[in-house]
Amino acid sequence: MSHENLRENPHGPIMTENSEASHDVAARIERRWAMVSMAIVVLLVGIAAATGIQHASMPQGRVETADPKTLHLTGEFIESNLGTAVEADGSVMVRAIGQQYSFTPQCVLVPANTPISFRITSADVVHGLLIEGTNINAMLVPGYISEFTASFREPKEHVMPCQEFCGIGHQGMWGRVKVIDKAAFMNMKSARGRLTCVD
Ligand code: CUA
Repeated sequence: MSHENLRENPHGPIMTENSEASHDVAARIERRWAMVSMAIVVLLVGIAAATGIQHASMPQGRVETADPKTLHLTGEFIESNLGTAVEADGSVMVRAIGQQYSFTPQCVLVPANTPISFRITSADVVHGLLIEGTNINAMLVPGYISEFTASFREPKEHVMPCQEFCGIGHQGMWGRVKVIDKAAFMNMKSARGRLTCVD
């Protein structure tokens, strides 16, 4: 009902009073809801700001760096140190690098039913590493070491594509993980230091 109609109505004054009262009630409720929604917005912005500041100001749990320019010259990622090794404490460690457009080693050899640590970095740009049939999905960022552990239940070969666009040859950047029987792996390891599939 518009205002014109109200004024022409013989009971105009009463109707107008009623309508003004309900208009006030409506306005009050509207203001209250506006305040509630503003409060929600302010709260969400506050939470986003607080967590952002917290993340930026706290150091990460653990960051390890490796200079991509000298990977092949010095440190744990020199070529002779890449592949799978059984460390002095009996743990199995895989060291590898990703570069445009391959992984070194191209094929990672690991024993089944064994906790395995991976330490991998990039020699140039950001790469990804995904091991098919597992939940392993890591980023390889130049300058930083990606570390994770995994265990493979049964002997099997998994493909290991790069899953981060890294340049024109990205789609050809594939590696493999070959899981073999633990006893067979341990036999091979006694003969040589670092293992890859092609040894
Ligand atoms: Cu490396 Cu995509």
